Amino acid sequence: MADLQKLIQAAREARERAIAPYSGFSVGAALLTASGPIIQGCNIENASYGLTVCAERVALLTALASGERDFISIAVISQSDPAASPCGPCRQLLWEYCRDIDVHLVTLNGTTESTTLAALFPRPFDLNPGEKNA
Ligand code: THU
Repeated sequence: MADLQKLIQAAREARERAIAPYSGFSVGAALLTASGPIIQGCNIENASYGLTVCAERVALLTALASGERDFISIAVISQSDPAASPCGPCRQLLWEYCRDIDVHLVTLNGTTESTTLAALFPRPFDLNPGEKNA
């Protein structure tokens, strides 16, 4: 399977594990690390709605906690058509730890829009411009 299709498949599988009883909107994310592994994330909601964590953040924090520091790309899949795009806070977090990775936005039928984090988030808050934190 081509690399991108493998990443999308990992995001699709992660989405099956979403815990989204309040919104009914399940999201899966898959982050490709430079060292090889694909790290998955899904959104996890809470009865105190504001405590919900997005799929992208779950994938990123899981990757960081497992020691990964360099990233290539992320795929995000949801039921939205056109495909959903990472929210503002997730863009800030991804920028801080991944810098300008490729971002693949995917619908359930597989339609994929490929862009970059810099295109989605052109003027980040950045204490160390040009450097990657961690
Ligand atoms: N959500 C994500 O997981 N990622 C996104 O890119 C957009 C939104 C989640 C948060 C919440 O659980 C549900 O989707 C509806 O907003």
